[in-house]
Amino acid sequence: MTERTFSIIKPDATRRNITGKINAVIEEAGLRIVAQRRVHLTEAQAKKFYEVHAERPFYGELVAQMTAEPVVVQVLEAEGAVAKYREVMGATNPDNAAEGTIRKLFALSIGENSVHGSDSLENAGIEIAQFFTDADIVG
Ligand code: TYD
Repeated sequence: MTERTFSIIKPDATRRNITGKINAVIEEAGLRIVAQRRVHLTEAQAKKFYEVHAERPFYGELVAQMTAEPVVVQVLEAEGAVAKYREVMGATNPDNAAEGTIRKLFALSIGENSVHGSDSLENAGIEIAQFFTDADIVG
């Protein structure tokens, strides 16, 4: 089934000017970038986006990192896009990420791990709606 998932190219990657390299990996995996925008997240936006982690010890640092530089928010489309993008991203901790994955190739640490991708189809819908309207998405 054709699905859409939500992606963020994180500040550690925009800072290093490697958004194009990451998009190349995304596209080579067969995911189509059907919406994309550069945005500097506010603290309120970052807190809301990661509110599921609000009680975790890394939450403060995560919010600080996500607001330090602009990000690129994206909608990716493919058959089974949610699982496919999780595979292309690699494990949260780059030390555990498989060869060829974005995090293996580019992540600096578990916190500065270059990309976010939705973990379920339901969350993909919720996350996409935080940043894009239907009119922004051109499949
Ligand atoms: P999580 O949703 O567990 O991972 P993923 O991004 O792979 O879905 O965590 C969200 C982000 O929180 C993660 O990308 C980086 C940060 N994080 C830490 O900084 N330290 C940690 O120990 C964990 C688990 C996550």
